[in-house]
Formats: sequence, C-alpha cells, structure tokens
Amino acid sequence: MKISPNQLVIIKPDDWHLHVRDKEIMKAVLPESYRWASRAIIMPNLVPPITTGEDARLYANRIKACIDKDINFEPLLTLYLTEETEAEDVVSAYRKKIIKAVKLYPAGATTNSSNGVKNIDSVYSVLGAMSEQGIPLLIHGEVTDPQIDIFDREAVFIEKILVPLRNDFPDLKIVMEHITTEQAVSYVLNEEKNLAATITPHHLVVNRNVMLSGGIKPHYYCLPVLKRESHRLALIRAATNGDNRFFLGTDSAPHIDKTKIDVCGCAGVFNAPFAVEILAQLFDNLGVLNRLEAFLSLHGAEFYGMPYNKERLTLKKTDIPLQMPENLETKEGKITIFDPLMEVYWQIVK
Ligand code: DOR
Ligand code: ZN
Repeated sequence: MKISPNQLVIIKPDDWHLHVRDKEIMKAVLPESYRWASRAIIMPNLVPPITTGEDARLYANRIKACIDKDINFEPLLTLYLTEETEAEDVVSAYRKKIIKAVKLYPAGATTNSSNGVKNIDSVYSVLGAMSEQGIPLLIHGEVTDPQIDIFDREAVFIEKILVPLRNDFPDLKIVMEHITTEQAVSYVLNEEKNLAATITPHHLVVNRNVMLSGGIKPHYYCLPVLKRESHRLALIRAATNGDNRFFLGTDSAPHIDKTKIDVCGCAGVFNAPFAVEILAQLFDNLGVLNRLEAFLSLHGAEFYGMPYNKERLTLKKTDIPLQMPENLETKEGKITIFDPLMEVYWQIVK
C-alpha cells in the first residue's frame, strides 16, 4: 500500500457480500461493482432463490455473460440454504468450484427469505458435511420471533442460535454477515477461530437517527436495521483495528425506487457505486487511512484462503467534493444510490 497526502494505491478490493439480482437490474448494477472490486460473494436470494448447484452454475453464467472479456471480475456464488438442501449437492458444487459458500437466512428475516430455515436442527446434516469439507456458512444473524424487538434481533440471535450452533460445530467456518451491533463485534473478538464478520459501508457511516428523525427515509432502511450511534462506533473500531476477522461486505442491495418508497417498502441500500470512495473518506477522517487496504482488500481473502488480488486501485484526494449522482437508471426504473451525508474528496482514478 502506498499512501501520500493526496494519493492512495491499494491492492484491488473484493466485496464479500453483494446482491446483483438478475436480468436488467443485474446488467445495470454489475459495472458499479467491477469498477473497483476483483471478486464478490454473490448473494442467492433471487426469486426463486439459488438453492442447487445447478442453479448456481446457471446464475454464474448469466453474471459472466454481462461482463466483457477484458474485465477482471470473479463472481463467487453461494447457495441459499433451505430445509430441503441436500448435503451431497452442496459438497459437489463446492468441489466443482461452482460455489464458495452457503448462505443461511432464517425464514422471514429479510428480503426473499421465506424459503429460508425455520428450524436450525433440520439443516444439521448439511452443516456437518460443510464443516467436514471446510465450506463456509454465511449467516444473516437475526431471529425472526415477532416478540423480539427488531433492534435486539441480532444480539438475541447470537445468544440463542449462534452460540449453540458453534458449540455443536466448532470446526464450521462462519461469517456473520453485515454485523450491526457492539454485541456482534465483541462476540467475534472473543472467539478463537472459524469466525469472521462482514461490515457494510452504510452501517459504518450512518445511524438510525438518519433513517427515522426529521421524516422517515426509506433509502436508509435495510436489514439488519441501522442501530444507535454507540453500535456504529463499535463497528468503526472493528473495521479499523487491523483485526483480520473483520472485512468489507457492502450488502449493496438494489431495489427500484417504487418498491422502496411504498407503504411496505423493501429493505436494502444500494451502495456499490461509491463504497470505496466513502470508506476512504471515513478512514481518512478518522486518521486511519493506513488501515483501509486491510479492511477492503486483505482480510476477506485471508479468511476465504484466497490470494490477494494482483491488480491495484489508485485513489486521489481532490479539492472539490465528489458529485455523486442520486440514482442509477435501469430498464426497470431508477435505483437510488446511497447518500453518505458527508463530503467525499477521494476518487478512484484507476
Ligand atoms: O437490507 C437488506 N437487503 N438486507 C438483506 O438482508 C437483504 C437485502 C436485499 O436482498 O434486498
Ligand atoms: Zn445481503
């Protein structure tokens, strides 16, 4: 990594949690990620979800068909775990290098999760096989019990589901996706092995006041929902302390505006377009630019046992703040781009 006051050269980043959807939306959003990322873990919550190795193979082909040959971008596919998932299919897709991981959505926890897991015991045979084969389990860590307050669902998930699960499968590699609380940060820090967490740009940059105070702002609604400021500060400490169990997963989750601005709006923040610029500015503001490359480009590769990317990404600090467009036009409608509500002077130059 090379840092000078106005220039930064880092190993090209990866995005360890990304939604690219399908068809026209996919065509429109993919360039926003391959502009700065070499690889991305692709989430499987399509309608219908990617539940088999064959679904994943076909989806990977559709993604690759949208990317020009001269662009270096590797989609890393995941399977959507259901109570019907067969261990042999998971293992075979992993051995054939069709998938990199399996995603656990508790049924009803988030967008397109109705086919997810209702009872964790019913997927124990699959988890056993994954543990043996070293296949990572990526977890949306929130309980779905309507009795549990939405702001407590991650902390309760850790206590009620994750702790027992890790006792039963100590060798299973787990990523807690898009963590949002100080409880999740402490849990990861206190565990010895096989546990890491992704953190999103939006959970690092804004808190729940931004979404709920002075009028409701649907473009800041995501799941897990934004939390109070003390949690955001805990996430910042995790992302900037150099600990390699924390790495970037944008959870960039595009929805066209009319489905977000609705009486029952969808959860998801579309942050892929300026994720790197925003994080460079955040780390700069905190005086920890020297920690940026590790969070964006090193820690995830280390967890997944993959080489660092050979390419580099160069950023420049400019005198005038970046003018970020408000939205991305697609054939299905406009998608609003995440507004970090701060001035960003860093720009990607190549
Ligand atoms: O805000 C979110 N949007 N959280 C998720 O877990 C899913 C995602 C989506 O797919 O839209
Ligand atoms: Zn997601």
